[in-house]
Amino acid sequence: MRIVAVINQKGGVGKTTTTVSLGAALARLGRKVLLMDLDPQANMSLHVDCRTDLASGSVTHLLVEDRPIAELVQPTSTPGLSVVPADTSLGGVEQVLANRIGRETILREAFDALDAAQRPDYVLIDCPPALGVLSANALVAAHEVLIPMQTEYFSLQGMAKLTEVIELVTRRLNTELKIGCVLPCMVDLRTRLTGEVLDNIEQYFGDRLAQTMIRNNVKLAEAPSFGATIFDHAPESNGARDYWEFAAEFLERHGEPVAVDELRRVAGLDDLLWDESEEVEEPEADEPEADEPGAAGPAETGSGPEGRTVDREGP
Ligand SMILES: Nc1ncnc2c1ncn2[C@@H]1O[C@H](COP(=O)(O)OP(=O)(O)OP(=O)(O)O)[C@@H](O)[C@H]1O
Ligand SMILES: [Mg+2]
Repeated sequence: MRIVAVINQKGGVGKTTTTVSLGAALARLGRKVLLMDLDPQANMSLHVDCRTDLASGSVTHLLVEDRPIAELVQPTSTPGLSVVPADTSLGGVEQVLANRIGRETILREAFDALDAAQRPDYVLIDCPPALGVLSANALVAAHEVLIPMQTEYFSLQGMAKLTEVIELVTRRLNTELKIGCVLPCMVDLRTRLTGEVLDNIEQYFGDRLAQTMIRNNVKLAEAPSFGATIFDHAPESNGARDYWEFAAEFLERHGEPVAVDELRRVAGLDDLLWDESEEVEEPEADEPEADEPGAAGPAETGSGPEGRTVDREGP
């Protein structure tokens, strides 16, 4: 069981979209995946069409009443993908726990109590856009963090604070915690700024910056309102393609590489990713003028086959 906290205290950067889409891709690739919603906005629970009631319970019951995880897990429409949902009652939990001793370790204890048969391969925790008790519980329970980031001018602001909190948790409460991966989300490759921000992120995080980038894609924005994952809502969209590619990178980073053929078969996309053995004849591209918006790099899929993440080095 590998527990991943999907975290960034900045709001609206793609945490929930990444949690659901990565989780659904991993489940379709045969992994047993548990999503946990730790955000009082409960966006993730709605995204996978999971509503709570008093009988079924929510993550609030786990944190406040020590209800076991196994009692709170609900299935989703994606086989292999289950969820511990949240509802708005989670909003009051920070205050309820404020004076409780050991409040940061509740979630870790709950995962420790799972017996072998109940343990999923991967747990993805969708954190709220704040560094309070809820996020602290995620960081203490997790083996690693996944940081979705937008490639905007102010994106790196706040990273110092986040890495400081991660270091503090690592020192005091969870020596295993690592920064697993930083994932650029809602990327617009047509702007020069994107390239500059990516360079800065790479300087800061080194090889923990993902090779994959999630492009801006309207289908990803639509999917939650249908209570569907991107793979059900728009399986051929660039959003689906990018998250397939990231799922493959994620598994590779965890020592479980997926063959291109297998990925294409499961995704139902014959042209997903380049097969390195296939020589691709690149058409001669016109050099854009230095001041044109496209000058920082190719737009969308660039000169490669559709769906391939564009090389950041670019022309
Ligand atoms: N690659 C993308 N392209 C276009 N829209 C996207 C993309 N990723 C996410 N969105 C949309 O942007 C909004 C914010 O994304 P998301 O909810 O995943 O961010 P978040 O970090 O979880 O936000 P919060 O901090 O509020 O929890 C949502 O409406 C989502 O559907
Ligand atoms: Mg969210």
